[in-house]
Amino acid sequence: MKVSVSTISIAELDVDLLFVPITVEELEAGLTDLSEAFGSAIERARSDIRGDGSHATVLYPEEGTAKRIVLVGLGQSADVTLEKLRLAASKAASVSYEFKAETVGIAIPSLSINGDDTAQALVEGFVLGSYRFTRYRTGLVTGEAAQRLVIQTTDHDKQVRRGADRGRIVAEAVCTARDLVNLSPDEKTPTLFSKAIEKSGKKHGYEVSIWDKALIEEEGMTGLLAVNRGSQEPPTFSVLEWHPENSRNSRPVILVGKGVVFDTGGLSLKPTKDSMDSMKSDMAGAASVVGTMEAIAKLDLPLYVVGLIPATDNRPGENAYVPGDVVKMHSGKTVEVLNTDAEGRMILADALSYASSFYPEIVIDVATLTGAAVVALGDFIAAVMTNDEKGSEDRLADIILAGSESGDRVHPLPMFDEYNEQIKSTIADLKNVGGRGAGSITAAKFLEHFVDYPWIHVDIAGPSFLAQGRGYSQAGGTGFGVRLLTRFLQNLSEKKR
Ligand code: BES
Ligand code: ZN
Ligand code: ZN
Repeated sequence: MKVSVSTISIAELDVDLLFVPITVEELEAGLTDLSEAFGSAIERARSDIRGDGSHATVLYPEEGTAKRIVLVGLGQSADVTLEKLRLAASKAASVSYEFKAETVGIAIPSLSINGDDTAQALVEGFVLGSYRFTRYRTGLVTGEAAQRLVIQTTDHDKQVRRGADRGRIVAEAVCTARDLVNLSPDEKTPTLFSKAIEKSGKKHGYEVSIWDKALIEEEGMTGLLAVNRGSQEPPTFSVLEWHPENSRNSRPVILVGKGVVFDTGGLSLKPTKDSMDSMKSDMAGAASVVGTMEAIAKLDLPLYVVGLIPATDNRPGENAYVPGDVVKMHSGKTVEVLNTDAEGRMILADALSYASSFYPEIVIDVATLTGAAVVALGDFIAAVMTNDEKGSEDRLADIILAGSESGDRVHPLPMFDEYNEQIKSTIADLKNVGGRGAGSITAAKFLEHFVDYPWIHVDIAGPSFLAQGRGYSQAGGTGFGVRLLTRFLQNLSEKKR
């Protein structure tokens, strides 16, 4: 979608559909500006318009150049949040999609939120709300996404332009992650997935190197190899790098993404219904790292960032790893495998221990790690945990803030050392399962044994994939994590100014 900014008056904006977000106060004051621009259609529709955002009102004005007007309420102006702006814009996107509006205008409301953020949120909501995954549809596809989006503003157009650009870049990166998650598993074997990552790097201007199975063996990624043993497809390990000359950090920020391209559970096989049937999304963490690399490269963020993506499927093959196997991991620690379905921590542990060789400033892993995270927090929020290394409280505060600003919200879980009791093995250093209680925490405690730097763990099992669409996400991959990580990195680079 092409996104531009215009200072032409709303009456003269030549678009198929003009989206006007309005506050309750504007509605109560009679919408006189709109009536002046578009005539009596506004007055006639006034009693149908809801100020709270629960509806989109479509009207066909007799005056002005826009073909249709879509009005969506934002609630009281003092209560308007970035998330409300995104949701309102996604309502307008649905209407635009249904009507196959090719050109859409958004009139920037004047709010106490600054112009940058308002424009960014509206563009994000519109682009994300327009997303549909149609790759496998052979029949009639109803509706079509807009091709051109014009952000209309009367003042602060420089700020609005900057925000609109950011919104487009970030939303497109989220759509990359959604596409990867929604892809059929047979189209994203580790090899095909890594080729897609290579292509993304070329297109967006970051470096990618792919390790094949031989190199993975040479590097001693034994956790990844153990999970891969039941598979017909070799694993890959992708290293993504964004290292601009003006980087404000010398030690990199590392992003690690769980890339299980399909999780059957292995020999500890999952049931199909409401479990294995969504496990093509078990690479959503990896997808969010790819999307984030795209976003920061396009934003030209002055930070040195490395992405690490271990990828494999998890299957019950003839040679599959079994409960009882003891694996000597990349770090040298030994793990007794007691459930082959706890495979994510096996491949992440190796990536995390490899990350140490970069002497990172901080490492963030993003993973669809545990069903327990969904039980604890539901499907609209991710669980976040951090280790006790210096600055842990600030780190947690920073990621929570990035979550609330970006709309990819996270909530913390505790990391008390008592939880380590649950992952003690009788014969090895650790076991890969921690029993019924606190499953998300014991998974994180397991990973903690493989890190020796400041670290944040984000368990996105809940919000990465939706059975039913909501807000600006359709059913399927949500691209959760891209906005969270991008915002976190933007904030970090601002701090280093
Ligand atoms: N990929 C799953 C976790 C998951 C569950 C993601 C639901 C998204 C939605 C992970 O590999 C897994 O199977 N975890 C097990 C761990 C258990 C065996 C300790 C789980 O959560 O049941
Ligand atoms: Zn699993
Ligand atoms: Zn998994």
